[in-house]
Amino acid sequence: MLRYLTAGESHGKALVAILEGLPAGLRLEPERINKELKRRQGGLGRGKRMQIESDLVQILSGLKNSITLASPIALFIENKDSSIEKLHKVFSPRPGHADLAGVLKYGFSDVRNVLERASARETAARVGCGAICKIFLDEFKIKIFSRVLTLGGESDYQSMREKIYEAMAKKDTLGGIFEVVAQGAPVGLGSYVQPDRRLDGRLAQAMVSIPGIKAVEFGLGFGYADRFGSEAHDPIYYTKGKGFIRKSNNAGGIEGGISNGQDIVIRACMKPISTLLKPLDSVDIKTKKSSKAAVERSDICVVEAAAVIAESACAYILADAFLEKFGSDSLDDIKLNYRNYLKRLR
Ligand SMILES: Cc1cc2nc3c(=O)[nH]c(=O)nc-3n(C[C@H](O)[C@H](O)[C@H](O)COP(=O)(O)O)c2cc1C
Repeated sequence: MLRYLTAGESHGKALVAILEGLPAGLRLEPERINKELKRRQGGLGRGKRMQIESDLVQILSGLKNSITLASPIALFIENKDSSIEKLHKVFSPRPGHADLAGVLKYGFSDVRNVLERASARETAARVGCGAICKIFLDEFKIKIFSRVLTLGGESDYQSMREKIYEAMAKKDTLGGIFEVVAQGAPVGLGSYVQPDRRLDGRLAQAMVSIPGIKAVEFGLGFGYADRFGSEAHDPIYYTKGKGFIRKSNNAGGIEGGISNGQDIVIRACMKPISTLLKPLDSVDIKTKKSSKAAVERSDICVVEAAAVIAESACAYILADAFLEKFGSDSLDDIKLNYRNYLKRLR
């Protein structure tokens, strides 16, 4: 079983993660992880914080001479801004954030106690783990890509840029829709035998756990709703050279909770950023009087970054399902198992 935990506050000393369950024998270099961390920090609409931080990972354990030992891999990403102790208190919860529910749940008198961990800065640690999963999947030629489909309702790059400028001028924020595609995943990842083993269910959880993601679809997704069944499903054919094939991929690569060998296609919707420079109505949690929501240093739009995080989330789930099917101790053993499986399928 592959698993990870992350820790760290937005303005704490560092973000850390422990990833456990990868096999022995995989070469890991920090450069590849850093590349993904950098991608997470970019995109249209990012705020000042990402100009301050330039995330670089240190791998503290789990490797000898850059090769995995099957022991837990600990990652450390330092925060340049680690002023958590000095930062001002926050009393007006921001609508759209964990702020209000968080202070009520934990009995805090300062919203900062919530927002420091609820912040999406945590996703840097997640992307660190996801990058390692991508390196593992590379060994089996499984590649994961993403692209932004719409941003603030616009779908071409120039209009997206203009929309961001408009949001900036109005002191407002934007969301959008992105797509993640995994190519090269074999048939047979995940299972229908228990609800929690379904690959689409696991991927959906991973996607929706990204802060700000509010809807996910696979393949045709919501588009299924207005089609006849005869127009919706992907007919099956067989050729001697290729085996079982499909001429369409409305299922988005998953049927009955199992990968079917086609590209896995996921789309997700991100809501507009909740911290507004022209803040919404809120209530001061000390005085209970009406106030305006707190304003923190903030992004305007993070759809591109969310797509990069979603690639990582997808890589983690696919790596977990892959290890489940083909073993998880030694990379060489897994390769052998995988070759035998592909031979049987042929
Ligand atoms: C990469 C990334 C960066 C984000 N940056 C901000 C930000 O600067 N300001 C903000 O208010 N929300 C930001 N968010 C969104 C919030 O983290 C998210 O909306 C909030 O934690 C509430 O969670 P929920 O939207 O899933 O309910 C960001 C999300 C992601 C994925």
